[in-house]
Amino acid sequence: MFATAHRTPLPHLKKALLALCAAVGLLIGALVGGTGTAQAAGSLPCDIYGSAGTACVAAHSTTRALYASYNGPLYQVKRASDGGTANVGLLSAGGYANAAAQNSFCAGTTCVISVIYDQSPRHNDLFIEPAGTAGPANSGAPADALPVTAGGHQVYGVSFSGHMGYRHTAAAGVAVNGQAEGMYMVTSGTHVNNRCCFDYGNAEVKIADTGNGHMDAINFGTECWFAPCNGSGPWVQADLENGLFQSNLGHSTNSSDTGNSAPFVTALLKNNGQNYFATKDGNAQSGGLNTRYSGPEPSTSSGYSPMHQEGSIVLGTGGDNSNGSVGSFFEGVMTSGLPTDAADNAVQSNIVSVGYGGRSPVAAGTLSPGSTLSLRATTACCTTRYIRHQNNNAVTSPISSASSALDKGDSSWIVRPGLAKSSCVSFESRNYPGDFLRHSNYQLFRQPMDGSALFRADATFCPQSGKNGQGTSFASYNFPDRFIRHYNNTVYLAADGGPNAFDNSTSWADDVSWAVSAPWTP
Ligand code: AHR
Ligand code: AHR
Repeated sequence: MFATAHRTPLPHLKKALLALCAAVGLLIGALVGGTGTAQAAGSLPCDIYGSAGTACVAAHSTTRALYASYNGPLYQVKRASDGGTANVGLLSAGGYANAAAQNSFCAGTTCVISVIYDQSPRHNDLFIEPAGTAGPANSGAPADALPVTAGGHQVYGVSFSGHMGYRHTAAAGVAVNGQAEGMYMVTSGTHVNNRCCFDYGNAEVKIADTGNGHMDAINFGTECWFAPCNGSGPWVQADLENGLFQSNLGHSTNSSDTGNSAPFVTALLKNNGQNYFATKDGNAQSGGLNTRYSGPEPSTSSGYSPMHQEGSIVLGTGGDNSNGSVGSFFEGVMTSGLPTDAADNAVQSNIVSVGYGGRSPVAAGTLSPGSTLSLRATTACCTTRYIRHQNNNAVTSPISSASSALDKGDSSWIVRPGLAKSSCVSFESRNYPGDFLRHSNYQLFRQPMDGSALFRADATFCPQSGKNGQGTSFASYNFPDRFIRHYNNTVYLAADGGPNAFDNSTSWADDVSWAVSAPWTP
């Protein structure tokens, strides 16, 4: 065995050289702003808006710092096993989220995101939103539902199903009563719906609709509030209360705005509070911003000119907590004052430099989270039948390449980490994002995820080898001796022998065995 010192006659010289190399390395790192290291001061979104004279009054992200000097917590997770909480911070000042801290804290159980901290000096942290006049209390978003990469690091975005939202009431420094403000969020065009209202921005102090102009929030989704809208969306719209505006007339006046369905979208709204607002969107992975509307405040009814903002912050629901919407959130800020277009463009360049990306692509037709699949029956009677939803019930139907697009969509499911146990799986509807396959009274249905512990358990299935020697059988998480079974072409949670007709032992092993197949709708 060799001792290092024997081969290094002048250890003190080696140390000095190492220190010199480290210093040069740090200097080079600081100059080029390398991945995962602090970038040059002034380069992150709130530095850009701040030096343009429109300081951030809110800066929320689960993926990265939004100030080059920020080195505090990004968000808090709460775990199901013991109700314990932990903060997730950064790998380095001005850098990216330390997702490994979440992974170890949540290992063997599930976590929700319980707080999204405000990085601005205003401390406008977002908490799980309580009940409002239009919807019951929300749940926190599952903490591991949206793994992505940013700056070359694996981090988590926030994935909203229905009945999920965050709020900060009476936020400090946020525009009120006709003051000017700007805001953006990085969201996704691939997980959207047409329900009210996936919003980020200024909302009411009470969780209620207090009238026109009492909100000023970015809305992103496929809900066309004022027809006509162009194309199928999702669009960036201004939720100014009692309407999602694409122009001063409400409806779209821009025939080129058919929406933006990119996987990562920058959505931007600014409003001088008096007589002008603008919306923009861009691909958050490349290129610049498109201005979708820039002009007067709505004139369709009174209350919008001047505006009457109340200065609270909402994320994921409407102002009155209408909470049927789904969506994704990676980062967002709000400013005091109307940002310049130059600052917006610099912020978009910074967002693009993050290099947001997906996980490595997951193969379709597998049980890996993120994969889309179809589940085919293996019982001799029924090998052309697949699990699909129809009138909200789970049934089996024969599906073939000649089937309609609707039937193919209804029989395609996206595999998610099990909502109650991440090593098992849940099945999200391909054509109803946010809806999952769940059992209730031992029958299976497609229903919107309501965030409750019961729903999570009822929608979690643990795969094992097929009971008839083919494919896969899916044990219920909360009734482990019951499996997903078809019986008279309806889908149940069935035991092998039991009180219900669908527990009948005859052909049970075949009926609970499913061929995990390529999705009819990829
Ligand atoms: O403006 C659209 C929605 O209308 C708001 O978000 C909500 O408060 C109301 O239901
Ligand atoms: O499906 C069995 C049980 O029935 C579910 O756990 C519950 O949702 C319902 O009461």
